[in-house]
Amino acid sequence: MAVGIFDSGLGGLTVLDAARRRLPDVPFVYFGDSAHAPYGVRDADDIYNLTTAAVERLWAAGCDLVILACNTASAAALRRMQESWVPRDKRVLGVFVPLIEALTERQWGDNSPPREVAVKHVALFATPATVASRAFQRELAFRAIGVDVEAQACGGVVDAIEEGDMILAEALVRSHVDALRRKMPSPEAAILGCTHYPLLQDVFQDALGPDVSVYSQADLVAESLADYLERHPGMLGSGTDGMYLTTGDPRRVSSRATQFLRRQITFEQA
Ligand code: DGL
Repeated sequence: MAVGIFDSGLGGLTVLDAARRRLPDVPFVYFGDSAHAPYGVRDADDIYNLTTAAVERLWAAGCDLVILACNTASAAALRRMQESWVPRDKRVLGVFVPLIEALTERQWGDNSPPREVAVKHVALFATPATVASRAFQRELAFRAIGVDVEAQACGGVVDAIEEGDMILAEALVRSHVDALRRKMPSPEAAILGCTHYPLLQDVFQDALGPDVSVYSQADLVAESLADYLERHPGMLGSGTDGMYLTTGDPRRVSSRATQFLRRQITFEQA
């Protein structure tokens, strides 16, 4: 009974950690495609091909259910995968919907018509590919009306995190927050729409100020995964061992992951 968690690199570890806390008895197989990160500057076909290859590897590791803990893959590839690629006995879920349900104060799977919600001005920080896809605005429009979304494509942040250059990553975050504020001076809420960004959540909060509620995905996705597994216990795959797979250099990736999560993490070659 294993569940797969996929990201282009290390960002999905923020989701994995929350999922492990919420579901301590479930083994998770993590796949980080560090050799091909960042995805955020790639085109949709490229992201689709890389994501499907990674998901096939997770299926081979005994995971029938795979979470795309990557907004870029969720935005650019998930719908196409679900429509024409995922076999009947497997599931691939993304990370947008739990976040949007939280923002719009909806229960899981509440499909009632869009309605007015408390927040009116939302800042979205995400990769260039996620921003270009407009997937966030599309999913939001199904659930809420009258919400003004200003999106900031945060070029360079994922590369800096993957390289372990947190000083550069912090400087880039501050400059992207400044750029957002020039377009939307007073957002009420900010969405960290990339699973790498919670590694810099304090910097986002500091740059945005205490009046802005910062939403990040890890706990929301973990909660909705727990809910999903309760309703679909058969989707726990046959795998029994948790593991960390990377397409990058396992030594380098393990050392970055250990630094980020402050516990020993050992990756093996995917
Ligand atoms: N963590 C991925 C996301 O949530 C980063 C994408 C990238 O590799 O650019 O979008």
